Amino acid sequence: MSHRVDPEDRAVLDAWHAVGFLETTGPAATRTRLLGVALTIRRAACGTIQVLAEGRDTPLPVAERHGCLWTSLGTPPATPLAIPEADEPDRRLVCCGSIDVHASGLRVVENFLDMAHFPFVHTNILGAEPQTEVSRYHAEWRRDVDEVWATDCRFHQPRAALSAAAGQDTGYIYRVASPFVTLLYKTCPNDALRPDVIALFVQPTQPERCRAHPVMFLIDDISAQADLIQFQQKIFLQDRIILENQRPRLLPLDARAEIPTRADSLSVAYRRWLKEKRVRYGATGAASGG
Ligand SMILES: [Fe+2]
Repeated sequence: MSHRVDPEDRAVLDAWHAVGFLETTGPAATRTRLLGVALTIRRAACGTIQVLAEGRDTPLPVAERHGCLWTSLGTPPATPLAIPEADEPDRRLVCCGSIDVHASGLRVVENFLDMAHFPFVHTNILGAEPQTEVSRYHAEWRRDVDEVWATDCRFHQPRAALSAAAGQDTGYIYRVASPFVTLLYKTCPNDALRPDVIALFVQPTQPERCRAHPVMFLIDDISAQADLIQFQQKIFLQDRIILENQRPRLLPLDARAEIPTRADSLSVAYRRWLKEKRVRYGATGAASGG
């Protein structure tokens, strides 16, 4: 079975995908995969980065944004997603290291959007029993920007961030900008008005495998960079155990494959949006009938 992306999978082909961190992209050629296609990445002496794909003579489009190198196998928009908060001068950019996951990238995004697992997977950090209920929130497909958002999300968290001195009632806003690109805005322990921003850029390497690139844009001028990275990696490695045990590894887009509950309404919106976009890579039961 080929792991190559289907030429008709336009939403996936024409998207920008993060394929690594800029801080680790040097003059030595590195290899990676995107949508089943082998890539070679190299930074030239003049500083520009070139991405070559197997079987193609011309280099792929590239963009440097949000600490990451982005590329596309199709015809992408002018730039990767905008994150206006990222430009605030006192934000700290924290690139948390790339992590390989043996699961569909779509499942990794869906897990990122789920609050219900906090007390059970991130126990005593992002949640704790007995406060396990996900209260009602609002999920929607914003057709003007073609993104999925969830607002009015709240969860009580023992340690919402490395800098959190005590438990707090954390407000969340979730945003899915493209099928493999998502971010959240959550109450910052250090700023009453501005939220922390945590992004997850997922690089689908094969249908059932991906590489996750978590990036944080924090208001925190105290914590050491290494400690911030370690905090986030610990959380992500807890997620990876759950993700790699999910079956099927592909994300089912057949409506009958799931029994939605109120807590899942963002997941349902995400799957509907993927289905409507006819996303195939990393999915099962969607547009397979053509
Ligand atoms: Fe998680």
